[in-house]
Formats: sequence, C-alpha cells, structure tokens
Amino acid sequence: MNICFIGTGYVGLVSGVLFSDFGNNVICVDNDKKKIENLKKGIIPIFEPTLDELVKRNYKSKRLHFTTDIHKAIKDSDIVFIAVGTPSAKDGVSADLKNVYAVAKVIAQNINKYKIIVIKSTVPVCTGDEVEKIIKKKNSISKFDVVSNPEFLREGEAIRDFRYPDRVVVGSNNLKKIRPALEKIYEPIIKKGAKFLTTTRRSSELIKYAANAFLATKITFINEIANLCEQVGSNVDDIASGIGTDARIGSRFLRAGPAYGGSCFPKDTKALTMIGNKFKTEMSVVTSVIKSNEKRKSLLADKILKILGNPKNKKVGFLGVTFKANTDDMRDTQCLKIFPKLLKKGVKISYYDPSGEKKELKRLSCKKNSNEILTNSDLVVIHTEWDEFRSLNFSKIKSKKLKIFDMRNLYQPNSFSNKNIVYYSIGRPFYEKKA
Ligand code: UDX
Repeated sequence: MNICFIGTGYVGLVSGVLFSDFGNNVICVDNDKKKIENLKKGIIPIFEPTLDELVKRNYKSKRLHFTTDIHKAIKDSDIVFIAVGTPSAKDGVSADLKNVYAVAKVIAQNINKYKIIVIKSTVPVCTGDEVEKIIKKKNSISKFDVVSNPEFLREGEAIRDFRYPDRVVVGSNNLKKIRPALEKIYEPIIKKGAKFLTTTRRSSELIKYAANAFLATKITFINEIANLCEQVGSNVDDIASGIGTDARIGSRFLRAGPAYGGSCFPKDTKALTMIGNKFKTEMSVVTSVIKSNEKRKSLLADKILKILGNPKNKKVGFLGVTFKANTDDMRDTQCLKIFPKLLKKGVKISYYDPSGEKKELKRLSCKKNSNEILTNSDLVVIHTEWDEFRSLNFSKIKSKKLKIFDMRNLYQPNSFSNKNIVYYSIGRPFYEKKA
C-alpha cells in the first residue's frame, strides 16, 4: 500500500516508519527542510529508543522516503495520514487546529484518484467533519473519505506501543468503503492479537480524549490516595496492588508520583473540558483532575521545603527533570512548577538528567552524573524513574546525613543499610534507621 504521513513528529515518524517496516511504501512529509535532510541521514529529531535503526533500515530498503514535497507525496499515495501537531491554543485550553486545516486544503488540491484521508493527530470531536467540509469546498468532484484513527503511543515506548497495541480504533461514516484498506495496513498488528475496533468518526475522536483523560484521572486518584496514606500511615503501593488486582480497575497507571506531565495528558484533559463547554456538557471529573494535578506540584514543593527545615542556601539535587523516564521531553514537566517555589526560598538547585542538559534550566547547575548530585546535596530528589536511579551508589555517603525524597518510590523505606541516609517517599510511612 502507498501511504504518506504529513507531519514527522512523535506520531507521524514512529507510525510512518513502522508501517514501512510492515512492508508498505511510506512517504514521510514535513515542511521543515532541515529536519527532512537530517532524517535522510538517519538523524532522528526525537528521543525514542531504537527508532534510529528502524529509520536507517527502512530508508535503505527504499520503503521509507522523506520529502518536503507534500503535493507529490499526496498524489503518489492511496492513504494520506494527517499527523501534524495540535498543541494547546493561545487560550491554553482548546486545541490549535490550524496545521490540520492547512493540510486539508493542500490535500484538496492533490486528489488525483480516490484517497482515504486518515486523521491520526489528536483532534476534538467533529474535526473530521470540518476537514471533510474544507476538502469538499475546494474540490467538489474528487472521491475521498475522511477517517479518524487516533494513536495511543507513550513517549519512550512508542515503538512497542505501535507494534503491540491493545486495540486499533478506526472511525468513519463510510466503514464499508474504507475498512478493507485500513485492515490491510494494520494486518501485522491485528495478527498479533490487537483488537480492530470500528465506530463512527466522532466516537473515534472522543475515544482518544476519553482514554487520556481517564488515565490522567487514574493517576490523580492514586496521587490523592497517597496524600491520605501519608496522614493515616498506610502504604500507597499496597493500596495500588490491593485495588489494581481487581480486573475492573487494572494495575497499570496506579503509580503514585509527582503529578502527571508531558505533551498529552495536560493538553488533552483541558481540551476535553473545552469540548464539554462547546457542547454545554459539564466535565466536572476532568475539571477536578486538572485542578488536583496542578495543586500537587505546589504540594510537593512544600514537602521539599518542610524536609529542608530552613531552606536558605540548602543544596537540592534533582535526579531527572523530564516529565517521565526514557524521554528528553520537558513539556509540562513537574519540576518546572516546583523549582520557582524553591528558588524563591533561597534553595540552590542542581540537576542531572540522563537525556542531557536542558535549555529550559539554563539558570541551574547541570551535573554530569548522579554521584555528583549525591555528594553535593543536602537533599536529593528522585524526580523521574530512569533505570539508573534504581541502583544509586549510596556507599559514597560517608559523613553527614543525606536526605532523599524519592518522588517515584523506586526504593523501599527500610532498604538503606547506610544509616547516613534519611529517606522520604510518596504515600508511605516515614522510616528512619535506628543509629
Ligand atoms: C500518554 C498516554 O499514555 C498515551 O497513550 C497517549 O498516546 C499520549 O499520552 P505519555 O504522555 O507519553 O503517553 O506518557 P505516560 O507514560 O502516559 O505518562 C504520562 C504522565 O503520567 C507522566 O508524567 C508519568 O510520569 C505519569 N504517570 C504515568 C504516573 O505518574 N503514574 C503512572 O502510573 C503512569
């Protein structure tokens, strides 16, 4: 099948490369010339483990192509995926759809044969109707169908999530016509057990928002339970296991932490409340999730200040600063809201992140490894759950007491043989080794 992906960000690049790995002829299009030139050289603009080998292998096999020529790419393709960014708009809540609509206009000019136009970008309900209208307005004669096919890829796990999804969702008002082609390109995934769910276009658009909002709700719920655990002396990890083993709840996304961040949950929860407003339907649960998640960052900053006692000139070293492990993405990462509160109280902040120095943190001292953080801090904060932070070298801590605030509960409270460590975590009773 001849496929083109318009937009080579997380979604477009990962999906396009993997469809080419399944044997399709895929053209990835971007308007960023430099990015396209780099991709041809195997230089990948996103931090996604093993993506570079996949790009090189498929580009070499001539199944995968990169171009800025959107017109030719559309003309040469049977299925055109729209995978451009839909960031939050200036109001900070609704989705900005200008890129999607701009691409729709270009597609309208290049429908040289029947096309299936697939919206993979995360878009509010009814966007597919709007895209269809835009194309029809510019090109009333050509035959085409507009389909919704949302993705459920996690950053850092996108390749695995694409290859082994729980389900593929396809939404269309003309399923009879488009189903065979979509089933064909997704065949390798369906064969491995993924469900192929079909529905209307609007339902498919809403499934994406509902999925992200529910996951954000689940995380926020366990975070609030963690707060209660700290007051009643319970252990949130045990609560998570105790409820997660109920098949109706499920154990994933019940890890208490420093609030959810990233480019999706914050954006999509807000966009869902906007969709609710637009259709005069109150989304009170999601609204409270957004509020609770935002408040959590300030709550954790207060907890750091409380652990420090007198914060002035105290040295706090952060292990990890991205919104989660296995990514270099700083979008809506939790520490960006925690740092200002600490700096205002005179705290000296340093950090080490395995994905490298961050331009957003120019004012802070960036260390080269975790040992530099361990030996130069009064308090070490484990902010992201990188694997290397699961086996820190505490033996170097000889003299003074080192406090550790483990925001990801990577360690067990009673696991420190070194009595110079004072360990704090999330939602678990405080434990100090007797001298
Ligand atoms: C998310 C969705 O999982 C994915 O399906 C969608 O396509 C895009 O948005 P992503 O934002 O990449 O993926 O990361 P994810 O792994 O979902 O984590 C999101 C945030 O929730 C991170 O800040 C993470 O630390 C936090 N989280 C996740 C928790 O705090 N606890 C958990 O149990 C899981």
